[in-house]
Amino acid sequence: MAQVSLTGNDESAFWQRADDCLIRYSGGGIFLRRIIERAEGVYLYDADGDGKPIIDFTSGQMSSILGHSNPEIVAIINRQAAKLDHLFSGMLSRPVVDLASRLSSMLPPGLDKVQLLSTGGESNECAIRIAKMYTGKFEIVGLANSWHGVTFAAASMTYQLTRKGYGPAAAGSLALPTPNGYRSPFRNPDGTYDWKKELDYGFSLVDSQSVGSLAAVIVEPILSSGGVIVLPPGYLRRLKEHCVQRGMLLIVDEAQTGVGRTGKNWAFEHDGVVPDILTLSKTLGAGLPLSAVVTSREIEEVVHSRGFSFWKSFTTHVSDPLPAAVGLQVLEMLERDNLAGQAEYLGERFRSFLLGLQAQYECIGEVRGMGLMQGMEIVKDRTTKEPDETLATALSDRMLELGLSANVLRIPGIGSSFRMAPPLTITQEELDAGLAIIADAFRTTPGANLVFAVHVNRAST
Ligand SMILES: Cc1ncc(COP(=O)(O)O)c(C=O)c1O
Repeated sequence: MAQVSLTGNDESAFWQRADDCLIRYSGGGIFLRRIIERAEGVYLYDADGDGKPIIDFTSGQMSSILGHSNPEIVAIINRQAAKLDHLFSGMLSRPVVDLASRLSSMLPPGLDKVQLLSTGGESNECAIRIAKMYTGKFEIVGLANSWHGVTFAAASMTYQLTRKGYGPAAAGSLALPTPNGYRSPFRNPDGTYDWKKELDYGFSLVDSQSVGSLAAVIVEPILSSGGVIVLPPGYLRRLKEHCVQRGMLLIVDEAQTGVGRTGKNWAFEHDGVVPDILTLSKTLGAGLPLSAVVTSREIEEVVHSRGFSFWKSFTTHVSDPLPAAVGLQVLEMLERDNLAGQAEYLGERFRSFLLGLQAQYECIGEVRGMGLMQGMEIVKDRTTKEPDETLATALSDRMLELGLSANVLRIPGIGSSFRMAPPLTITQEELDAGLAIIADAFRTTPGANLVFAVHVNRAST
């Protein structure tokens, strides 16, 4: 397809209009000054007319696991939109029942009943309502540095800078420490990370703050917006034990990790634990707004008998046929194309590359992730672990100049981390092309010192 070429004047008129008419919703940041005209597979094409694509290492907003404008998804959207798009919320259609039954058949017993919604925040809102109604309690516990959405209950469980400035969070919002093995002060005598002690200590604080109404814990298997922090092996299992001891439900939010990305269809499988409530979103619609809440027959039966409703009547886009048809196709492709296996295989290649880069560059403090979801933390030096936001931003800007979009998270008090999660359909050649750009960016960004160079410089001072 021919590229749209904008003259400098056209482009500045575009940004003038954007600045004039759009609410600046991104906190202190500004919109990235690129006009994206189209996207295909792993590539984004902008308006500057040079025809050079940008490799998308964030799958849009971590969602487009089948790449952009996947032809099979485009065909389903066209077919379903022409046939049945949206309905009164109390009516059902075939794609909804087909998706719900396929999803529950791919999940272990105990995750049997499904509700389809639109966004991740909405699915967590719904999960928290179910947990409150089932337990008859109202205190919800999340991990510090979590992200669960911007709607009220989800935002109350989102321990990020975005918490400030909007008045009180929900009563009964409590936090556990993030199990960040790179930075945690909880250490065994040999210096290794003691996450169990940290978790048990966290629960002792929860117990002392609780007013006796503990309903649920909500967690992400990988805290993505918290800096790609992977829960240590065994953590979810121990968390579940704490929940059982207190009569709490365990809600696992797999907005980003669900649907194959970590090398298994669902990330909770890595720990062999079945959550009481599972939420899926971003990846389930592969870029379209679709989310799901899944729970057990027993929990569903109890809350139904108590009059569970989300919302008072129905929410507008519950059980919409169009996104449901897309979700069904996503699950079909997940199984047919062994996307989890692909994520595991290419993820290993991705990870070895990043570990190799870390061996070369002093500024890479830690590499962490699973499958095709990888992060690396940029620090001023490895001993102090002081985050280097300036360098991380310079590296990310350089990657973009060279044709790669990778996301830098700046998390006060936590660090400065790259978050990378390309589509699961990326080929090895496309992945390697992206990795070559990362290597090039490190080579050509001032301040990204080689380990060897740093040691030589230190030795000579
Ligand atoms: C783990 C997690 N849960 C929930 C959400 C919220 O999803 P949404 O933005 O679709 O409401 C996000 C969004 O980034 C997320 O990463």
